[in-house]
Amino acid sequence: MSESSLVVVVGGAHGIGAATCQVMAERGWRVAVVDRDLAAAEQLATSLGAQAYGVDVTDHAAIDALVQQVHARQGAVRALVVASGAFQAVLAPQDVDAALWDQVFAVNVHGLYRLNVAFGLHMVAQGGGSIVNVASVTGSAGAPTHAYAPSKSAVITLSRNLACEWGHAGVRVNTVSPGVTLVKRILDRWATGGGTRATSDPASHAALMRCVDPVEVARGIYFLASEDASAITGVDLPIDAGWLAASGWEMYGGARRATAKSEETV
Ligand SMILES: NC(=O)c1ccc[n+]([C@@H]2O[C@H](COP(=O)([O-])OP(=O)(O)OC[C@H]3O[C@@H](n4cnc5c(N)ncnc54)[C@H](O)[C@@H]3O)[C@@H](O)[C@H]2O)c1
Repeated sequence: MSESSLVVVVGGAHGIGAATCQVMAERGWRVAVVDRDLAAAEQLATSLGAQAYGVDVTDHAAIDALVQQVHARQGAVRALVVASGAFQAVLAPQDVDAALWDQVFAVNVHGLYRLNVAFGLHMVAQGGGSIVNVASVTGSAGAPTHAYAPSKSAVITLSRNLACEWGHAGVRVNTVSPGVTLVKRILDRWATGGGTRATSDPASHAALMRCVDPVEVARGIYFLASEDASAITGVDLPIDAGWLAASGWEMYGGARRATAKSEETV
């Protein structure tokens, strides 16, 4: 995979996807910025010398058309990153209605799966490629987001399955699982007082005692997409400032320096 290879970044107009477009472009990749927000995708693409495509990932016919357009305009695709996401508020299980469930799964699971299959089959035919799907720490640890968290578990499992299907052709499929990552969407929500129950003091729950910057997730995605990760497939890479590592410490008061005197354990 040469550094002038083409990467398609879906959900590339904002947040983690936009940071990924920037990091991949800085490191010499040609970039296709795909998003349902075409205006923002075009703005970013112009600044990076990239191409923009307007697609809603819930539209499967549009995904098939996208694959044709990208190949016709920019040639063979060496890497696919899927960073599009549908989110939900913290809700009681009985308040997750069918419409919310379907919307979250249509974007996070079904759309992502269709993208993987559509681009992945081309990678199989060309004899290599790399897919990085953006999951979440909630996909393995759980969270009171009763549609979103299971949708991310599905992303981790379907990615592992596809890694096994396509490994024979040199196509690698991995996930990254971000912890709380300070994208504009989240910063705006906090600024208006939203999300307090879900996200109160999230930095204190991570080993590094901070949240994650979008570019830190982007660097992990870049690594998995690149030849530096040539023997890595079917894995989930948490990029969470040590949030998963520290989760077992919660009952002892959370991540902190060791105290001088010994304490009773359970
Ligand atoms: N930010 C975090 O704390 C965090 C933590 C864990 C996982 N994630 C995951 O990272 C990914 C990116 O999230 P983000 O925080 O950067 O969010 P974001 O809102 O900043 O970016 C999401 C992008 O996806 C696009 N998008 C949404 N629905 C789409 C659709 N139907 N079709 C095409 N594009 C669509 C949006 O326009 C936007 O550009 C998501 O999968 C999210 O679940 C984020």
